[in-house]
Parts: sequence; structure tokens; C-alpha cells
Amino acid sequence: MKKSFVFAAGIIALTGLALTLSSSQVTAQKKGKSRPLTTAQLMSGLVKPQLVAIQGHAGGEKTPEGEDGWKSLTTSIALLNESSYTMMEDDRCPDKIWADACQILRKATASGLQAAAKKDAAGVRESIAGITASCKACHTEFKYKKK
Ligand code: HEC
Repeated sequence: MKKSFVFAAGIIALTGLALTLSSSQVTAQKKGKSRPLTTAQLMSGLVKPQLVAIQGHAGGEKTPEGEDGWKSLTTSIALLNESSYTMMEDDRCPDKIWADACQILRKATASGLQAAAKKDAAGVRESIAGITASCKACHTEFKYKKK
């Protein structure tokens, strides 16, 4: 009887701790510590439009059109690469899952930039797969589960 009471009290204490930890994670995911940009603004204003632009140039069977197409594609990949740093700054990153997703994004965009420099459309398409894998890696944990 006494043992199970201690056990139950332990469970309650642990649940409380878990709730405290996860609520501080939610704060970290929504915004950084001191800068005004929210994660939602970062996503809707920078990250998503650049992915849409990249897919417009090189998604599916597409190949960027002319010098302007390649230049604009390269700009979008570089901005997405930069966003992988912004996502890590200002104490926005709550844990390793977040940090790993940013690494995936950084690596995929770096290889996309190398492919774009060689006007290698197939290489860019491969990097798009890595880029979307990074969105998924983070969203599965933070956008859907804990919101
Ligand atoms: C390191 C984590 C992380 C990565 C990587 C990431 N996202 Fe997000 N994203 C989030 C979080 C967290 C939210 C929820 C923000 C909120 O509602 O406060 C979100 C929300 C969004 C939203 C909704 C924004 C809104 O207005 O509510 C879009 C669109 C989005 N992400 C697109 C993308 C795309 C496209 C990629 C990949 C190129 C991506 N995200 C990669 C963490 C990430």
C-alpha cells in the first residue's frame, strides 16, 4: 500500500516535470529569445516562398530557364541555406531533433548550390529531396505534435 503510494507520487512529480519541460520547448519553437521574428513568420515569409521558387525552377522534370533562371534558383537555395542558421540563433533551438533538421537543411542546400554552380539540374533535384526531408524532420516533431 505504502509502496504504491510512493510510486504514484513519483509518477505525478515526473508528469509535472515533463509538462514544465515541454511548455518551455513550445516557447523556444515559436520565437527566439530576444529578436522579434517569430518562427511562423520565418517559415511563411522566407522558408516556404524559397522552396516554392526552387521547385518552380527545378522541381519535377523542370530545368531552370537561361542565366536568369539559374541565378534566381541559386539565390533561393542560398536564402534557404541562410535560414538554417537563423533557425539556430537567438535560443530558438530547443533540442537535438531541431538542430539535426537544420543540419539536414544546411547540407542539402550546400549540395544544391554546388549543383546549381555546374548547372546540374538533376543534382539540384536531388538536393530538393534533402531539403523537403529537413522540413519533415522538424515538422513531425514540432509543428504537428506539440502545437
Ligand atoms: C528546425 C525546424 C524546422 C524546419 C527545418 C522547418 N520548419 Fe517549418 N515550421 C517549424 C515550426 C516550429 C513551425 C510552427 C511555427 C508556429 O506556428 O509557431 C513551422 C511552421 C511552418 C509553416 C506554417 C507557417 C505559418 O504561417 O503558420 C510553413 C509554411 C513551414 N513551416 C514551411 C517549412 C518548409 C517549406 C520547410 C523546409 C524547407 C520548413 N518549414 C522547415 C519548424 C521548422
